[in-house]
Amino acid sequence: MKRLVHAVVGCGRVAPNHVDGFSALPDVEMRWACDRDLTTAESLARAHGLPRVTTDVHEVLADPEVDSVSVATGHATHHGLVAAALEAGKHVLVEKPLALSAEDGAALTSLAERAGRVLSVVSQHRYDRVVTAIRDWIGAGLLGSLVSGVVSLQCGRDDAYYAGSYWRGTYAGEGGSALVNQGYHALDVTRWLTGGLAVVGAVAGHTAPRGGMETEDTLAALLRGPQGALVTYQVTVASSITWRTRVEIIGTGGSVLFDLDHPGTLHLAEGNEELRAAAAELASAEVEQAPPGIGYYGISHRRQIADFAAAVRDGHQMIADDRAGLETLILLQDIYRVAGHEVAAPVLSALRS
Ligand SMILES: NC(=O)c1ccc[n+]([C@@H]2O[C@H](COP(=O)([O-])OP(=O)(O)OC[C@H]3O[C@@H](n4cnc5c(N)ncnc54)[C@H](O)[C@@H]3O)[C@@H](O)[C@H]2O)c1
Repeated sequence: MKRLVHAVVGCGRVAPNHVDGFSALPDVEMRWACDRDLTTAESLARAHGLPRVTTDVHEVLADPEVDSVSVATGHATHHGLVAAALEAGKHVLVEKPLALSAEDGAALTSLAERAGRVLSVVSQHRYDRVVTAIRDWIGAGLLGSLVSGVVSLQCGRDDAYYAGSYWRGTYAGEGGSALVNQGYHALDVTRWLTGGLAVVGAVAGHTAPRGGMETEDTLAALLRGPQGALVTYQVTVASSITWRTRVEIIGTGGSVLFDLDHPGTLHLAEGNEELRAAAAELASAEVEQAPPGIGYYGISHRRQIADFAAAVRDGHQMIADDRAGLETLILLQDIYRVAGHEVAAPVLSALRS
């Protein structure tokens, strides 16, 4: 198997999950830790034994042996860094969202296609065991026709989380907050399970504003699936609870209730005998240990990174490819637009230009 040489650009909170995922694979060399802040890059490199450190992404991209790059920086920088990496011939795993605007996201998917490089947007919960099982059950008709869904995320992010960041809580840097950042996964997974979602209505609010936070802390939306299933979706970052999701998918033949917490848990599967037997089998499967780092990011960066590395080698279509990332970006921007929140302004201007 050809050795894969990988670099991480952006060495902040989520970067250890990328290093962990690539380090867990055979025939992968983790070479570069790149952060515009040298101390941050050095700290990641030291903690995980990465041999090279730089503050300049161009040094990474000029390394002819680097095959692939993780982009794990603030949202507004994704487009420029991903484009530069693809133009340098690298495969790219970019943290969600793909870009701040659908126009920029579409430009990146076209660029990846022209360059013949893998571009994947992190959506690790698509790889959670409970989520992949439910997707299989829906595909096999075990839930019948989907008619309804109830999706919620409550999490707590304090003043320091926003005040201490160069990008969070600002339209220019984050492009929104509760929906595009913490709420991204629940939206993406539900969209994947239902086969697509359109926006019926949405409202965004500042229910408990933090110092310096101009973006929404709470958002609620009504969404519709392709066969008419109605889904209520709500997210807040103003809870006292650090992280709790609930996703309920209701069909004419069965219902499931699960979460995207760690470990992801199936709380309920009611319906026919086949569904109950599949749920019992899932419940008996071993729970994997979380990697070091922030527990509520879950364990599935490892699985998406394994899928990414395999796609780089064999070209197969990933579960979380760039198209999936673009479609979720379009949906969340539609939600912001319908919510009529200020966050829609840069998005709409980008789409018009
Ligand atoms: N998948 C998940 O569960 C998950 C969890 C957390 C964060 N994220 C995503 O990961 C990304 C990063 O989030 P974070 O919490 O790690 O942010 P962070 O602010 O902790 O880290 C980002 C780092 O990028 C560096 N950086 C910015 N611009 C750079 C550039 N041009 N070149 C090199 N370095 C640069 C910053 O100095 C900073 O150290 C975001 O897109 C976020 O939404 C995803």
